[in-house]
Amino acid sequence: MMKPSIARMGGRLLAALFLLFGAMPMHAALAGGPTLTIAVAGAERVFDRDALLARPDAVTVDIPADISYGRPMSYRAVPLASLLGTGDFPPGAVLEGVASDGFTAQLPPELCLRTGPDGAVAFLAVEPADRPWPNLPGKEVSAGPFYLVWVRPEASGVRSEQWPYQLARIVASDDPLRRWPQLAVEPGLAADSPIRAGQAVFITQCMACHTLNGAGSATMGPDLNRPMNPTEYLTPAGLKRLVRDPRSVRTWPGQQMPGFDPAILSDADLDRVVAYLGHMAGRKAP
Ligand code: HEC
Repeated sequence: MMKPSIARMGGRLLAALFLLFGAMPMHAALAGGPTLTIAVAGAERVFDRDALLARPDAVTVDIPADISYGRPMSYRAVPLASLLGTGDFPPGAVLEGVASDGFTAQLPPELCLRTGPDGAVAFLAVEPADRPWPNLPGKEVSAGPFYLVWVRPEASGVRSEQWPYQLARIVASDDPLRRWPQLAVEPGLAADSPIRAGQAVFITQCMACHTLNGAGSATMGPDLNRPMNPTEYLTPAGLKRLVRDPRSVRTWPGQQMPGFDPAILSDADLDRVVAYLGHMAGRKAP
């Protein structure tokens, strides 16, 4: 089965880069290396690859189980907390990690700000111009130039879709449930309803690529409620199988959705997210 995230496409990115640089005067393309934009607390800062690598807080991090490469990796990286430059986020705020292919990770600021030795710590890995990273498995591109990696991810419950690669922007955003009321479940549902738990799984693991009722920033996969919800046209068993291993349901060369194996999405979480989808079929927003 494919590892999570590695099935994300690279071809469209290459085409986009080609268009971008093909259309630019050569001196502009040569003027600087790639940059990453961080927009938090009302300020937008642009970080240059070479300047990041030259920072005194750049370190080498070893990642024993790299989600995107599916093997141990080692990177030059800067602690994400020092780049965010503020600990001040409103309650419920998220950091959106936006990749150049439209993938958008939802990252809780409190997770990204962690620095201590006991839990997960986020690092911005930076691909040096003179030592390029290998291509991602099955792709013609690497995870660079910027890739969000985690040391001790298991210690803080970091999920597979919280490792955005080809990262272009990190943007502070409002709580997704406030920003997109059309994600809401029936207000009368019990606080411990599996449907509510499924909504949380959906926001972290599915909204990185899909919208629902038009909610979400990602542009990779189809909306999962409009015009129809997958629970309206797939059998329960077929839908679960598709999430576990899309290629076991149908397959074609341009297919992009990664499979979620039980190590990254438990059977209980799969049931919850399917329950949420089924519930939302009755709550279509125009
Ligand atoms: C990395 C991106 C990505 C993530 C994460 C992702 N999907 Fe997908 N999904 C896609 C893409 C792209 C498609 C369109 C088919 C393809 O190219 O694989 C798709 C297709 C689907 C379909 C089939 C829709 C149809 O009618 O063709 C379903 C159902 C689905 N996804 C459910 C989910 C659920 C549930 C989750 C979360 C557990 C999820 N996806 C997470 C990218 C993703």
